[in-house]
Amino acid sequence: MATNRTFTMIKPDGVENGHTGAILDKINAAGFRIVALKKTQMTKVDAEKFYAVHNERPFFGELVEFMTRGPIIAAILEKENAVEDFRTLIGATNPAEAAEGTIRKMYATSLGENAIHGSDSDENATIEGDFHFSGREQF
Ligand code: PPS
Repeated sequence: MATNRTFTMIKPDGVENGHTGAILDKINAAGFRIVALKKTQMTKVDAEKFYAVHNERPFFGELVEFMTRGPIIAAILEKENAVEDFRTLIGATNPAEAAEGTIRKMYATSLGENAIHGSDSDENATIEGDFHFSGREQF
C-alpha cells in the first residue's frame, strides 16, 4: 500500500549554491506537506550506510565524498502519490536529461552533483525517512 510519503535531501551542492529557499518553494508549490525538516551533515559512515545499495557501483566513493562534504537539507514530504510525483518534480538523475522546469534541470550542475535526492519506492521512503528522523520528529 502506498504510504503517501517520500524522503528528500537537498544535496551539498544545492545548499552551497544558495538554492535551498527556491527548492523548498517549488516543493511547497507542488503541494507537498512537510512532515519533517532539518539541516544536517552526514558522516562518511552515515553516507556509506544510506547508499549501501550502491556500494558495488564505480561512483560509490565519489558519491559518499560528495554527500559528506557539507550540510544537506533532509525532509520527509507527504502528498498523494508522493514518491512518483516527487521523482517527476525533481527530474532525471542526469540534469542534462531532465525535463524543463524540474528541480534538477534548474539547479543541478552535473550527474554527480545533481542538487536533490528523492526516494525511489514507498519502502525506501520509509527506510530513508527513519534513517534521518526519529518517530517524534515526524508530524
Ligand atoms: S536513481 O535515481 O537511483 O535511479 O539513479 P542511479 O543512477 O541508480 O543513481 C543512484 C545514486 O547515485 C548517484 N549517481 C552518481 N553519483 C556520482 N557519480 C555518478 N556518475 C553517479 N551516477 C549516479 C545518483 O545521483 C543517485 O543518488 P540519489 O541520492 O539517489 O539521487
